[in-house]
Amino acid sequence: MDLPRYEKIWLWFGVITLIIFLLVTGIMAFAMDRHPADGHERTVAPDQVLSTAPFDKPGVYPVGDKEYQVVMVARAFNYLPAAPTVPAGSTVHFRVTSPDVIHGVAIPGTNVNLMVVPGHVTEFTYTFKKPGEYLLLCNEYCGIGHQVMMAKMVVQ
Ligand code: CUA
Repeated sequence: MDLPRYEKIWLWFGVITLIIFLLVTGIMAFAMDRHPADGHERTVAPDQVLSTAPFDKPGVYPVGDKEYQVVMVARAFNYLPAAPTVPAGSTVHFRVTSPDVIHGVAIPGTNVNLMVVPGHVTEFTYTFKKPGEYLLLCNEYCGIGHQVMMAKMVVQ
C-alpha cells in the first residue's frame, strides 16, 4: 500500500491522539474512583451493621470536654438513636452507616447535608452552639417511609 506522505502523517496523528485520549480518560476514571462523602477507607458490611462495633451500640459517647461521638444507624425508616442528646456548645463527631439502602442526613439551618451509603461510614463533625431541638432528616429518597424518616438532636 502506497499512501501519500501527508496521509500517513495524519493517520499517525489520529492514532497517537486516540492513544493519549484513552490513557487520559483511563487515568481520570481511576483517579475519580473515590468513596462518597470523604476520602476515608472506612467500610462495614451492610448485612452486619447491627452486630459490628461501633454500630452494634448506637448512641452518644463522650470523647472529650464538650466533645461527643454519635454513632448512628440510618435505616428504613428511622435513625438509631432517635434522639441523641448533648449539652449546648458540644462538638459532635457523627459516624453514620446504613444497613439497607442509601439514606441522607440533613440538619436544616446548618450546613450538614450528607449521603449515607450502605457499606460505607459517613463521618462529619458539627458544633451545636445554641440549645434546642435540631431536626435531622433523610434527604435521599429511600422508599415508602422516606418522608417520615427523621431523628431529633437534642441540645440542652
Ligand atoms: Cu431514608 Cu429517605
